[in-house]
Amino acid sequence: MRELKEYFTENTRLNYILALLEWDQQVNMMNYKNVIGRSEQMALITKLIHKRLVSNEAGEIIKRAEKLGDLNDIDTAMLREAKRAYDQEIKLPEELVIEIQKTSAIAQQTWQKARQKNDFKSFIPLLEKTIELQRDKARKLETHSDLYSTLIDLYEPGATYDWIANIFNPIKPRLTDFVKKLESSAEKPDDSILNKEYDPDKQFKLSYEILEKLNYDFKQGRQDRSTHPFTTSLGSLDVRITTRTTEPFPSCITGTIHECGHALYEMGIMKELHDTILCTGTSMGIHESQSRLWENVVGRSKEFWTYWYPTFQKYFPENLNNYPMEEFHRAINYVHPSFIRVEADEVTYGLHIILRFEIEKGLIDEKIQVKELPELWNSKFEELLGIVPPNDTLGVLQDVHWGNGYIGYFPTYFLGNLYCAQFYNSALKENPKLPEDYKSGEFSNLLKYLRNNIHQYGSIYRANDLIKRVTGEDLNPDYFMKYIETKFYPIYGL
Ligand code: CO
Repeated sequence: MRELKEYFTENTRLNYILALLEWDQQVNMMNYKNVIGRSEQMALITKLIHKRLVSNEAGEIIKRAEKLGDLNDIDTAMLREAKRAYDQEIKLPEELVIEIQKTSAIAQQTWQKARQKNDFKSFIPLLEKTIELQRDKARKLETHSDLYSTLIDLYEPGATYDWIANIFNPIKPRLTDFVKKLESSAEKPDDSILNKEYDPDKQFKLSYEILEKLNYDFKQGRQDRSTHPFTTSLGSLDVRITTRTTEPFPSCITGTIHECGHALYEMGIMKELHDTILCTGTSMGIHESQSRLWENVVGRSKEFWTYWYPTFQKYFPENLNNYPMEEFHRAINYVHPSFIRVEADEVTYGLHIILRFEIEKGLIDEKIQVKELPELWNSKFEELLGIVPPNDTLGVLQDVHWGNGYIGYFPTYFLGNLYCAQFYNSALKENPKLPEDYKSGEFSNLLKYLRNNIHQYGSIYRANDLIKRVTGEDLNPDYFMKYIETKFYPIYGL
């Protein structure tokens, strides 16, 4: 076990190096020529990681470890994850791994330009190539009988298309009905205050202040700006986040809080796991449950704003001095169909994900062609959200994921919302006074709960085990429905 731990720790360190190259590319906005050299470097590191993973040495170490009996939870998980990483790589030919890495580096730049110019056509060849490469990858990995489930499993270990469809399908009409109900209210929030001008540099400065108060540790991280906000670990004690100061207000702030939630998870992993293969969140869905918890449940609550609003008024007196906090709170909780996923409210958000989930399934099964995407996107969008994007920049081109080759990733976002509501329900059962804390700027009791129950364990427990350990039951979407009903009916006077 000691050998296994050391061997895979070196791989984690190589992954941190790769993350640094990626971080630099995203934060420093490299141009089209720089990126070719960079993609060669990233391909080289990926090749080294791949070679180490598929080596006889790795296979032998795993084989010997498998003969050991009576392992504790950490060792059991370490062996499980080592074997998972080994199996994933041994099945993939080196050329395919390199091809995927190179394509994604170039596709990402192409996507950025295409999005800027509202030019989907220029993105088609690279997206087609990306999807074919992902299909190829799934065929080689074959962890599930259908290709899409195999890809989903990469982000949400153990989850399948059917398991997710069984959760998403019944909640789809419940969500569209709920949105209609809110829309029918005579007391809809007015969010025009959010479309006023808010100085970007002040927003960025304010986001720092909030990060400090939420116990984000600047001694082991930093915040920069990028096109698409993200969190990345460049080491066990180097967890960085990014944000963007785009409109409408306060998406810079909510984006910061979201990434902070991801970072707090990574920063809270127990020391014993540092640099090991278990030193990361256990699944994308659980990760997203942490970011959503801070962003939505805490960051859009009345209690949170009771504390923060005076500070916001100081930063933006011209807009907020004569504007009541209650109205501002209602404005940031305005539920309405909109085009951009990352700016969507927490109710319609799930519908954005269900749309992508259904499209991805079709793309991977070859029932949908890439060139049909804009039209299909728009018609599905109308079906789920009742509106049609006016252009592809606000439609099919908005997300970075597909260009990066992340197919099967999207469903984890909505799973995150569902996990989040269930976790928070348990946190409140243990400590019903948590929301009172927020009124005085005290966020450490919630963090303590999350660290004790979730963060410290890193990847020791799989998502389905973790939710059971913490809440006593399997993932149950009723908690999410109950959460949005309890929160939004009063806001809408229903
Ligand atoms: Co996130």
